Amino acid sequence: MCGIVAHVGSRDCVPILLEGLAQLEYRGYDSAGLAVVSRSGGLRVHKAKSRVAGLGSNLPARFKGGPGIGHTRWATHGEPNDINAHPHVVGPVAVVHNGIIENADELRAKLIAEGAEFASETDSEVLAHLIARASGYLPAPDAAADGTTRQASAVANDGTGQGGLEGQDDGTGQATRAGKRGDDPVVLGIGDKEMFVASDVAALVRYTRQVVHLDDGEVATVRADGFHTSTLDARTTTHEPSLIDADLGSYTADGYTHFMRKEIHEQPRTVERALRGRLEERFNTAHLGGLNIDAREARAIRRVKILGCGSAYYAGQVGAQLIEELARIPANAEPASEFRYRNPVVEADTLYVAVSQSGETHDTLAAVRELKRKGGRVIGVVNAVGSAIARECEGGVYLHAGPEISVTSTKTFTATCVAFSLLALHLGRIHDLSPADGARVIAGLRALPGQVTQILGEEERITELARDLAGYPSMFFVGRVRGWPIAREGAQKLKEVSYLHAEAYPASELKHGPLALVGPDLPTVAVLPDDELRDKNISTLGEIKARRGRILVVGHGTLDPRLADDMVEVPKNEPELDPILLSVPLQLLAYHAAVRLGNDVDKPRNLAKSVTVE
Ligand code: G6P
Repeated sequence: MCGIVAHVGSRDCVPILLEGLAQLEYRGYDSAGLAVVSRSGGLRVHKAKSRVAGLGSNLPARFKGGPGIGHTRWATHGEPNDINAHPHVVGPVAVVHNGIIENADELRAKLIAEGAEFASETDSEVLAHLIARASGYLPAPDAAADGTTRQASAVANDGTGQGGLEGQDDGTGQATRAGKRGDDPVVLGIGDKEMFVASDVAALVRYTRQVVHLDDGEVATVRADGFHTSTLDARTTTHEPSLIDADLGSYTADGYTHFMRKEIHEQPRTVERALRGRLEERFNTAHLGGLNIDAREARAIRRVKILGCGSAYYAGQVGAQLIEELARIPANAEPASEFRYRNPVVEADTLYVAVSQSGETHDTLAAVRELKRKGGRVIGVVNAVGSAIARECEGGVYLHAGPEISVTSTKTFTATCVAFSLLALHLGRIHDLSPADGARVIAGLRALPGQVTQILGEEERITELARDLAGYPSMFFVGRVRGWPIAREGAQKLKEVSYLHAEAYPASELKHGPLALVGPDLPTVAVLPDDELRDKNISTLGEIKARRGRILVVGHGTLDPRLADDMVEVPKNEPELDPILLSVPLQLLAYHAAVRLGNDVDKPRNLAKSVTVE
């Protein structure tokens, strides 16, 4: 969702802000903007409903200077347009903001009654008015730290809701101010006689690895030579800078046309990384250092409930099946967004698992908090190290998949399924999984990277199939039991990036309704593992064929050509692990359909990578 970047230093900040914003594009946005203090001391603003590249190529003449702030906006209050784009400026104060101010309407009415004039429909503009008023258009430079606290406190005390905030004014021309309330991250980057602020380290890694994460309720004054942080009631706080461990290569497309394709191709490596150091052949189990659950506690778990949103939820469904199969503990997955609102019954002997790539998803985080409030035990399956969800959970499993830039998840879906395989193996070996079965699963896990590489070798053929499918406006994805979450994820992927209509159904449900739509114009993608349900799945294919529906099978073995028009054969692993492999061709299918249709694959319309609002 929205992204913030700011720079204070002697060099022109505009290229730094544009580069930083480009790195935040992956989060999803619909407009972008910059505010800089010009060399003559005035505040200049340039914002538009456009991509960051467009913003950069249409800069007004001599648009340079510093300090400066930049923003990518994902609309919540007010449609995406040039005026609602951030920064919002009131007098000498310019503000960019991530998050939602829940009482913005009330504050706006009050400010209007006091004579304020609003330019935009956004909740964020309220902040610019409040800061401008609280600061009295800013005191002298030396009082900036106090001024900052006063301004940010005024905002934080008046506004409810959450957000990361970055503001600047031209009163001193020397500093920017940042504040954090709620979950949206705010990171200060420490350079050589220059400082950066961003909502995501992706915007900083090119310039510095030394960072400070602001805590909830903290404000910072940032100058070229350092920073000062304090609480809302002006108590100075201290921070030891930490080093970001980021591979710069993860933030570049590295010769690939799209991050989505690059990330699909990274999967043999991400699977290896998820497994590294975690397989314990000696006891035929998995060693998960961060779980913080001892064997006695693990033995006492009677149920597992998995929570996540979007692809994380579907990966959670795969996880639930793995846990039921390998550990024989009843397990199910539920969208975190629903769970948190239904006053869930929280049980002491249930292990709750929050799944999130970003570790920022608001609904998932809120579910974790609701669980903790009720005394539930929650662990995380998370990619982003140190993220809000990772911090809230009592322990968990990191994916170690590296940054995922394409909005739609691919390598982290696979890595999440692998992490669940490890968790299921670990719990299984404490419950009733035999050493022999443990060894079988370990051998299967070790075979995965090579098998993923094998599937990626089929890309050319899958590309042709995708081009063909892209000609149909609508299609079904079907699967059963182990294949069902894979069908759901396959349909989700296709929808997200190709904008074609795709619905997933359990193959067994087709005849209970959806079959009414099957015919020559509606193809079906069938996930068909070689498992105990194969014959039943084949009967479903027969039902589709009898209605002259076109079928693409993704599965094992070969099939009677009368049953399927096309087939992508996937190498077989252990039945419990097969779903992981079956999802890879569906990722390629979605990707190539989207490319065929000329879509912005990495940044699909209306979607955001990290959904940090409700
Ligand atoms: C958004 C993204 C999805 C993602 C979901 C959960 O909706 O568009 O691709 O699956 O959030 O994200 P998380 O970071 O919690 O895995």
